[in-house]
Amino acid sequence: MKVSDAANSRISCRAFKDQPVSLNQIKQLLNVAKQAPSGGNLQPWEVFAFTGKKLEAIIQDIENQLSEKPMGEKAEYDVYPPSLWEPYRSRRYKNGEDLYACINVSREDKEGRRKQFVRNFKFFDAPVGLFLYLDKGMGPPQWSDVGMFIQTLMLYAREMGLHTCAQEAWAMWHSTVAKHVKPSENLMLFCGVGVGYMDESFPINSLQTDRVDVEEFTKFYGFENS
Ligand SMILES: Cc1cc2nc3c(=O)[nH]c(=O)nc-3n(C[C@H](O)[C@H](O)[C@H](O)COP(=O)(O)O)c2cc1C
Repeated sequence: MKVSDAANSRISCRAFKDQPVSLNQIKQLLNVAKQAPSGGNLQPWEVFAFTGKKLEAIIQDIENQLSEKPMGEKAEYDVYPPSLWEPYRSRRYKNGEDLYACINVSREDKEGRRKQFVRNFKFFDAPVGLFLYLDKGMGPPQWSDVGMFIQTLMLYAREMGLHTCAQEAWAMWHSTVAKHVKPSENLMLFCGVGVGYMDESFPINSLQTDRVDVEEFTKFYGFENS
């Protein structure tokens, strides 16, 4: 598969088949993801990979707490700046609206939205859930390194016939996840990544997100006709 095909066919998959993904496949995936560049070659990522009963135990633990703590635990970092401004605010709003529209859940249907949102904490039924951590002392450059690691993983997953979904939502349950992961004290949970085979029969996977035009986010200097 060409890199462009991997990039164009990658979507955030929010419904997976129950087809398992083996330890070998996950190791193969991580072996390519680790080729991601990082400033100073720090490789500031730590991955905890879960499947089967061990994964079910985390999912169950959160499910048991959801009614008592609907907002989860306070994330260790701001998933978005506290008050989002334009144009980001509108982009985020549209993303939410488009997502719920493709499963026919209206803005007023709070319960429908909640039900879809909490599917995050089942990894949308992915057979494998990865938890991505980095050292609490790391700053923006290292967070971007971890981003590149995740993107390399997500692209190579496409070549392997797999789909993925990066999920910051897991940061809401970092203490509960930590009970199962047992990370060292210095680590912070950035996100989860579900890995598996996409179930195309679910309308949620038909969501096509848009992007702003290149000319809107790039200024060209010194090129012909620029
Ligand atoms: C770091 C990161 C965290 C994300 N967290 C979530 C999440 O918690 N739940 C979710 O449903 N989607 C999550 N997404 C998916 C984004 O909403 C998605 O990438 C964006 O809307 C673009 O859509 P696409 O991935 O299908 O191209 C996350 C994506 C990234 C890169």
